[in-house]
This record gives sequence, structure tokens and C-alpha cells, in this order.
Amino acid sequence: MADPGEARRRPSLTSPTYAVRAPLAAWLRAEADVAARREPRPRLLDVGCGTKPYAPFFAGNVAEYVGVDVSNPEAELEGTVEEIPVPDGTFDLVLCTQTLEHANDPARAVHELRRVVAPGGRVLASTHGVQVYHPNPDDLWRWTHAGLERLFRENGAWSDVLVAPSSGTTACLGMLVATYLDLLAKRARVRPLGSPVIAAVNAVARGVDRALPPLSTPQPGTIFANYHVTATP
Ligand SMILES: C[S@@+](CC[C@H](N)C(=O)[O-])C[C@H]1O[C@@H](n2cnc3c(N)ncnc32)[C@H](O)[C@@H]1O
Repeated sequence: MADPGEARRRPSLTSPTYAVRAPLAAWLRAEADVAARREPRPRLLDVGCGTKPYAPFFAGNVAEYVGVDVSNPEAELEGTVEEIPVPDGTFDLVLCTQTLEHANDPARAVHELRRVVAPGGRVLASTHGVQVYHPNPDDLWRWTHAGLERLFRENGAWSDVLVAPSSGTTACLGMLVATYLDLLAKRARVRPLGSPVIAAVNAVARGVDRALPPLSTPQPGTIFANYHVTATP
């Protein structure tokens, strides 16, 4: 059977969510290299792990890779991000990708992420600025960079919180166009015909953002699909 995580780790330009998935994979791949250099064999906790699509980036360099999720057979531990079933300070690296928007209580979730990370460790989280409604099982929240930074700073004693948009304003607008093009093509039963158009939209959006860096810097008038958070205790 094809590895379901492959599309997350190597997202195609034909994916309507390319603007979220490609930067997320690149970020985690780079962070896995950083983790391998920072400390020998860190313990890694993946909260809201889903199919653990990014585990291969870390495999080989971690002492253990433990997934937590709500009723998911692929998770080692059943639990929520609001009540993570592990003792305080037991993991050097804590991932929480594309999960905070599904949490009933994001403030409590951030407190929990802080509680379980070991001194000297890091939390790597990602969540949406803009995205279509996608319940899993709920879909409750969206953030700005400022709101997400405040959520972290006000919930737990962090020495540093860095929030970065994952891609630019044009990529975000392109993602919405691509999402509805895909939907339209699916409804018309001509989905494969939509793929080259979606790839073109994604490529042009990426090019425009690269050519105009202010579109990727949080300031009035910008809009972002996703954010990456690096939080250090
Ligand atoms: C969009 S998927 C993300 C999966 C994976 N982290 C990724 O980046 O591909 C959201 C995941 O969050 C889980 N989830 C939803 N609510 C949760 C909660 N309150 N606590 C922990 N996980 C939750 C879902 O079961 C699902 O696996």
C-alpha cells in the first residue's frame, strides 16, 4: 500500500493545499536536522499525530517517537492536546501540527504543550490563518500571527515564542482559488483536468510572493494560510 504520509512530505504542486503542505514539510525536515544536531536522540511526542506523516524525517535520530491522538489506532497514546497523557517535562521535542484548530480549548492545549516539554526542549506547532471548514472531528479556530503569539505567551512560561507565516499572501489567495477550482472540477467529474490549472495557480502564487517579499511579512493587508510556531521553555 502507498505510504499515506508521502503526499504530506512531498506535496505536489497540483495539491490545492500546496501553500500549507509544502512549507510545513520543508520546515519540519529542517527542524529534524536541527534536532539531530542539538542533542543525541531526543524523545519526540507528536500530539494530534494523525498518520504521523512527518515521522520519517525524525526516524533514526530520536530515542522514541510517541503519537497522541483521539481514537486513532496509529497513536501509541489516546488523549487530547488539552489533557496530554504523559508526565511533566518528559519530551525534548513536541510536535503539534494542524491540530490546535480542532482543540476545544486552545489555551489549555498550549499550557499542556508547555507542561510536557523538557527543559531545553522545543515545541513545534502549526495551525491555520485561513482555511476552509474541515471538521476532524471539530474545526473551531483560525488565527492571525499576533493572536497566535498571544495565545502562546499568555499560556505557559516560555522563554521564546516565534510565529512565522508559512507562505505568502498570494499563496493564501491561490490556495482558496485552487480549493474551489478542485471542488468545481470534482463536481463536474473532470477532476484530472483541474490539476494542471491548480499547479499553475500554485506556481504563479509562489513566484509572486518570492518577487514581492512584503507579501510574506505580517503587516496590515497581508493574509496567511498557515503559521509555524517555535516555542522554547
Ligand atoms: C488535520 S489532522 C493533523 C494530523 C497530523 N498532525 C498532520 O499534520 O498531518 C488533525 C488531527 O488532530 C486530531 N485531533 C482532533 N482534536 C484533537 C484534540 N482535542 N486533541 C488531540 N488531537 C486532536 C485528529 O484526530 C487528527 O488526527
